[in-house]
Amino acid sequence: MCGIVGYIGHRQAAPIVMEGLKRMEYRGYDSAGLCVLEQGNLLVYKRAGKVSQTESLLDYTTMHSTLAIGHTRWATHGEPNDINAHPHTDNSGKISLIHNGIIENYSSLKKKLISEGYTFSSDTDTEVLAVFIGHLYERTGDFELAVRSALSEVDGTFGLAVLCADQPDTLIAARRGSPIVIGIGDGEYIAASDAAAIIQHTRQVIYLNDDEMAVMHRSGYVTKTIDDREIDGEIHEIDFDIEQMEKGGFDHFMLKEIYEQPATFKDAIRGRLLVEDGNVKLGGLRPIEDKLRKARRIIILACGTSWHSGLVGEYMIEQLARIPVEVEYASEFRYRSPVIYSDDVIIAISQSGETADTMAAMKEAKLKGATVMGIVNVVGSTIARESHAGVYTHAGPEIGVASTKAFTSQIAVLSLLALHLGRMNQVSQTQGKVIAEALRAIPDQIEKILQTSDAIKEIALQYSHVTNFLYLGRGFNFPVALEGALKLKEISYIHAEGYPAAEMKHGPIALIDENMPVVIIATKDEVYEKVISGIQEVRARRGKVIAIATEGDMSIAEYADHVIYIPATLPMLTPALTVIPLQILAYAIAAQRGCDIDKPRNLAKSVTVE
Ligand code: M6R
Repeated sequence: MCGIVGYIGHRQAAPIVMEGLKRMEYRGYDSAGLCVLEQGNLLVYKRAGKVSQTESLLDYTTMHSTLAIGHTRWATHGEPNDINAHPHTDNSGKISLIHNGIIENYSSLKKKLISEGYTFSSDTDTEVLAVFIGHLYERTGDFELAVRSALSEVDGTFGLAVLCADQPDTLIAARRGSPIVIGIGDGEYIAASDAAAIIQHTRQVIYLNDDEMAVMHRSGYVTKTIDDREIDGEIHEIDFDIEQMEKGGFDHFMLKEIYEQPATFKDAIRGRLLVEDGNVKLGGLRPIEDKLRKARRIIILACGTSWHSGLVGEYMIEQLARIPVEVEYASEFRYRSPVIYSDDVIIAISQSGETADTMAAMKEAKLKGATVMGIVNVVGSTIARESHAGVYTHAGPEIGVASTKAFTSQIAVLSLLALHLGRMNQVSQTQGKVIAEALRAIPDQIEKILQTSDAIKEIALQYSHVTNFLYLGRGFNFPVALEGALKLKEISYIHAEGYPAAEMKHGPIALIDENMPVVIIATKDEVYEKVISGIQEVRARRGKVIAIATEGDMSIAEYADHVIYIPATLPMLTPALTVIPLQILAYAIAAQRGCDIDKPRNLAKSVTVE
């Protein structure tokens, strides 16, 4: 979603800001822009399309400014065109603003400003905020005060950076609901929505909390609340390296991230698995250990792929710990007056830790007295910081918009959690040891599946022209069917649906004919025979069957057009393996169709608006 970069320091600002925007391209955007302060004038360059299109407007040799802001926009109000792109300026041309989020009362503010003679050129809520700040600046002559006053009057969410032509030594950044990280260098500061834009310059960062702002001058900075109380912003260290933000020889980030999974799964369980004790150690849960022990119910909140891993978690936790689990779409939970008890434990799952719906649902649960734990990938993200306790997934930066390694890392952490809760309840040390050993074997098993990727790509070639796909799975693999379908539709734009295998006969079976490929997860477990019946039903209607089966199951080849094998593991851990061929299949089909795999149309990496 929108990317924000602001720089103040002693170096030429424009290339630093543009480089930062490129580092954030993976988040998804439709236009980009830059504002520099040159000889007292704010100069704005912006274009719909790629960052490179905006960059083609720039001649760095003629630019000297050491103060600049830049933005990549993902349209919410107004179509993606040059005019609606950020930065937006006020009517005097003295204020320039970049913004991520939504100003909910922009329409009433706009009417008021029009009645006072102000004019607007874009359809955006952001321009309204820029004009409003400009209006308050005209009245007070105090830039910081104008920003603070405007922000206390607006409703909605913002992560923003703002410049004033009269203040060549000031950059202001603020947040409510949308992330802002302040990179602290030597006599220079970078405000960004993502540490990816900062890592090249400094590892020292401050994460702003809601209703906080940073006022940066070359000689120093101050962090304060929007109502003007100074605060000590805690300085953190960025925990990843710049190489992790590069493709490392792969054609796409998504492919690189698929191939990283043996390592990322290992990182998620490293130091946490006590194989001999048949148990796990999750230090991040210490503050809520007692609550977890007494939890009457667990509610998992998430969106998209994280919601799918939550469903796997539900099955695991209920099986091992016998605690009832509900998995909710965060976006639904927040608006339906949910019943929450004080002895409920809420688990918010999120790769980015910044998904607006998950954040809001989690806030709602906290407000109602529940204990919240986070399962989050991005260190220092809002969900991680606002949870009472949590477990990081340690998957490293995930750049591809289609989530892959984050899913398997979430599965790893959820299995650890299920085992932990299970051992508090009914799981014996011997049973625990079996699970721990199986978990330890998963990275090598993923590696083995990756070695079969050429065969999976062959299958993909045969189906890259189709317009529909069906994915079926049961038990632990029902969520994997949903995830496989999501991967395919996100990056190849082929319509795909995931269903519990037994539900097929209640409706989707009507779709099956010789043109319909059906991916069926049929691993050897207690529902295997039932799934085979489903395969027969598809075959009887001439549908094409791509089966994901357990190594050694030779008989399945009789019923399926194609079989992709995965190594045997415990049924509860199969999702970490069965999802791998589905990721490769989706990737290979999208590559064959020539799709923009890492930046699929209309999608953003982290959805920071409702
Ligand atoms: O960062 P989060 O895990 O909270 O993101 C949730 C979804 O937006 C995300 O999983 C989305 O569905 C991905 N594009 C899936 O590939």
